[in-house]
Amino acid sequence: MVRQHLGPFRSGLVVEHPDAALETILGADGMSLDRRNEVPDEDALIRWIQAGAHPVLFKRSRVPVTRRVVEACPSLLAVQLCCIGDDSVDKRACAEHGVMVFNDPVSNGRSVVELAIGHLVALSRRLYETYDHTRAGGFDKSQDERFEVQGRVLGILGLGNIGRATARAAESLGMRIAFHDSREVAREVGREMGWEVCESIDALFRASDMVSVHVSAEDVVSGKRNEGLLTRAHFAQLAADRPQPSPRLFLNLARGFLYDPEELLEAIRAGEVRRAAVDVYPEEPRGKGPWTNPYASEPRVATTPHLGAATLDAQPRIARRVAHTLRSFGRSGALRDCVYRPRLELALGDVPSGAHTLAVVHSTTRGTRKAIQDAIFEAGASAESTAHQDFDELGIAYDLTALDRALTESQLARMVDLARDLTGEAMPIRSIRQF
Ligand SMILES: NC(=O)c1ccc[n+]([C@@H]2O[C@H](COP(=O)([O-])OP(=O)(O)OC[C@H]3O[C@@H](n4cnc5c(N)ncnc54)[C@H](O)[C@@H]3O)[C@@H](O)[C@H]2O)c1
Repeated sequence: MVRQHLGPFRSGLVVEHPDAALETILGADGMSLDRRNEVPDEDALIRWIQAGAHPVLFKRSRVPVTRRVVEACPSLLAVQLCCIGDDSVDKRACAEHGVMVFNDPVSNGRSVVELAIGHLVALSRRLYETYDHTRAGGFDKSQDERFEVQGRVLGILGLGNIGRATARAAESLGMRIAFHDSREVAREVGREMGWEVCESIDALFRASDMVSVHVSAEDVVSGKRNEGLLTRAHFAQLAADRPQPSPRLFLNLARGFLYDPEELLEAIRAGEVRRAAVDVYPEEPRGKGPWTNPYASEPRVATTPHLGAATLDAQPRIARRVAHTLRSFGRSGALRDCVYRPRLELALGDVPSGAHTLAVVHSTTRGTRKAIQDAIFEAGASAESTAHQDFDELGIAYDLTALDRALTESQLARMVDLARDLTGEAMPIRSIRQF
């Protein structure tokens, strides 16, 4: 079935407590947001979207948007993530049904960076254990296993937004930077900064006194999910090529499934890694539900509950950015922060006032674009401005046209029929919006 939405977005479902700046900005734009405080399971999510016939879902990283959710909710046209990570959403299912997915790749970075830097210093000085010890009446002021960070090598695995900013902040503390990243463009940036490129993860661990992980959920170069990226063998090599004694610290504020926690624990017990800080886990609870901390028995691992971005500063910043992303998608069809093509910015050029915008998500099969153009021609309308983007990996394209008049529902239905005839596909056009 082709999803269709005529007019501006008037409603959206909000789950997982994004900041109320969403309501302030989108409310002023005529959108009414249905905010739910409980964290829904799949059935509840479907019920809530269906009940409001919501075209937009706002969520953070936990609630999964599965194929079943997408297929059960034909009103849905956009998923707006109020965070960076997009692996909670079945992007292929969304694309197949003409649902666009957006995130916020920038606004929470600073909070994560500051948490990483805090851990680097705190772990280097054994602050977490010392705090407990002195509260219990102890007074141990020995220098054993206490280090300065100045002059040490910080290894960054994943030199993206957060990895880069962490490296810059660490440099200002006098640290040296080594890094490993699979993307050539990231390596170029690192080289420009004068940082040491390591050609493998092994080489990075060997060259570093401390490793901080900032990879994304997927490696865009190999197209593979980064599950099991790190093993005990990596941990065992930490600081192998550095003068000893070395702090030998490990930080993971990126993703919980990058390694098996037991492998890190073994490395800590064996003394290969002295201390670690972990913010993310293979299994995290939905909402405030019960949870088993895999590191609970090991005081040398400082654990936090995925709070890298949980600050009073980052959350309103994210809400403001995603509200603007979604508002401009709703009003003009413009794309930014679309997870189908990070860093893409797409908008119509000069649009005369009074023009109507047609936004179509369709398959990349030859003939679909022609069907759209033919339908516009048959309707006697003319295109004032157009913009187009293929998302080849997902087999879809996004087509924006400013028209001098709106197409009627039967003219839109004709467009769908023409596309079917020209391509021989059952659903070459996935979604149509006109506003
Ligand atoms: N703890 C938190 O609360 C929190 C908050 C925000 C982001 N994050 C996580 O932080 C991580 C980094 O976010 P970002 O915005 O900097 O992402 P990003 O996409 O800007 O950067 C990720 C980098 O990792 C590299 N990479 C991915 N897989 C790799 C591999 N197998 N080998 C080498 N390099 C690889 C990519 O090329 C890219 O340069 C993400 O996993 C994100 O989900 C956590």
